Amino acid sequence: MELAHHGQCAMPPSYVLVAFFFSLLIKTSPSVATDTVKAGRPLAGGDKLVASNGKFALGIFQMASCGSTAPKWYLGIWFNTVPKFTLAWVANRENPLTDGGASWQLAISGDGNLVISNRANNSMAAWSSQANTTTSNTTATLLDIGNLVLSDASNSSIVFWESFDHMTDTFLPGAKMGWNKVTGLTHGLVSKKNSADLSPGVYSATPSSDFANPGLFLSWNSSVVYWSTGQWNGQYFSNMPELSARALFTFDYVSNDHEEYFTYRLRNDTMITRYVLDASGQAKNMIWSSVSEDWVTFFAKPGAQCDVYAVCGAFTICREDMLPFCNCMKGFSIRSPQDWELGDQTDFGMSKFMGRDFSQVLTTLRNGAVGNHIWKEKFSRRVHQ
Ligand SMILES: *[C@@H]1O[C@H](CO)[C@@H](O)[C@H](O)[C@H]1NC(C)=O
Ligand SMILES: *[C@@H]1O[C@H](CO)[C@@H](O)[C@H](O)[C@H]1NC(C)=O
Ligand SMILES: *[C@@H]1O[C@H](CO)[C@@H](O)[C@H](O)[C@H]1NC(C)=O
Ligand SMILES: *[C@@H]1O[C@H](CO)[C@@H](O)[C@H](O)[C@H]1NC(C)=O
Ligand SMILES: *[C@@H]1O[C@H](CO)[C@@H](O)[C@H](O)[C@H]1NC(C)=O
Ligand SMILES: *[C@@H]1O[C@H](CO)[C@@H](O)[C@H](O)[C@H]1NC(C)=O
Repeated sequence: MELAHHGQCAMPPSYVLVAFFFSLLIKTSPSVATDTVKAGRPLAGGDKLVASNGKFALGIFQMASCGSTAPKWYLGIWFNTVPKFTLAWVANRENPLTDGGASWQLAISGDGNLVISNRANNSMAAWSSQANTTTSNTTATLLDIGNLVLSDASNSSIVFWESFDHMTDTFLPGAKMGWNKVTGLTHGLVSKKNSADLSPGVYSATPSSDFANPGLFLSWNSSVVYWSTGQWNGQYFSNMPELSARALFTFDYVSNDHEEYFTYRLRNDTMITRYVLDASGQAKNMIWSSVSEDWVTFFAKPGAQCDVYAVCGAFTICREDMLPFCNCMKGFSIRSPQDWELGDQTDFGMSKFMGRDFSQVLTTLRNGAVGNHIWKEKFSRRVHQ
């Protein structure tokens, strides 16, 4: 078995932690940091908002170009006190800016929405909060818990939009994972594609909107469920007994006439934590360790990386005891070494075939089985020889 490692990008040190290795190009503002954007007072593209407790910051950042990919710019919220750049939210993950932050601003538009607009002529670009505002005099504030809230400037309890209602791959303490029974809106997570591409990946965490069967589901391609929380028993979900230990967090499952949601809070706010659905399909509760200078996984679901549906793609095998955990089957090699190294190991096929049982493999593929389970089951004996 031979793995090609000739991509332009450096191999992350660990696939399990999916290391970030893009660089930040934020120009720190000489002015005193603010947490608010007001009508007529936009935030310049190179500046940032900082929550009043300093824990979170919001701004336009660049993903370093990797190999042949062009640089991309995003508006996002990151952990401001964590030395390893870690995102908590991204506004325009599907629609990145293609040129530098300096030509953009974050502004309140004429209808009161928060928009990324062109500095030169104020024209909207890439992203807008798209809320039904009832006033043009609004303010956007980055709260201490990492929530960006757009509200009426004269009454902050009239909220038009908040980032916690539009989570990307991260669920922060205080946010709600669930659904609104009145509007039908669900608040779930969608993984990013890989460690350098923030666009939506194939894995999602979705709250059930079925009264009879509540809970959260992890699925592949919005169709194949590969893990679920199970029922809430008043203390914890049956498949998440970790929630019964309440030394660090408190957990709540709330169901009323308007909404049904799961939320959690830190017992001690000096701790830094996040719950993230990573690019390889595991949902992880992580805690920042200032001792090891890294994120430490408190628990991961599913517990085994290889239990994530289709995590390795076709013609590969998944090995829990190896890093990287995906390896090509005998006679196959990686089709896209660059994506592979970035942690997206789902889109692979054969670029070189030397084995014998190709017809059997093709039949399995035609029958629609592309999950690593199938490969483990059918071919493990041969591959492990
Ligand atoms: C605004 O300016 C940008 C850059 O100068 C240009 O690409 C864009 O077309 C302009 N938009 C409008 C509506 O004038
Ligand atoms: C805004 O209002 C329109 C028309 O009433 C409605 O269709 C739409 O769903 C609303 N959008 C949001 C985000 O509430
Ligand atoms: C917006 O509301 C704030 C608070 O009520 C007020 O001070 C400000 O003058 C208003 N701005 C505009 C443009 O009306
Ligand atoms: C602000 O809005 C809330 C919610 O609509 C309302 O209950 C409250 O009375 C308002 N406060 C003021 C000062 O207008
Ligand atoms: C993913 O889902 C879409 C829409 O349901 C479907 O068209 C597509 O074939 C699925 N992809 C795979 C690889 O099965
Ligand atoms: C929170 O943790 C910090 C640091 O470990 C500690 O100094 C502080 O006493 C704790 N606060 C509470 C309320 O437990």
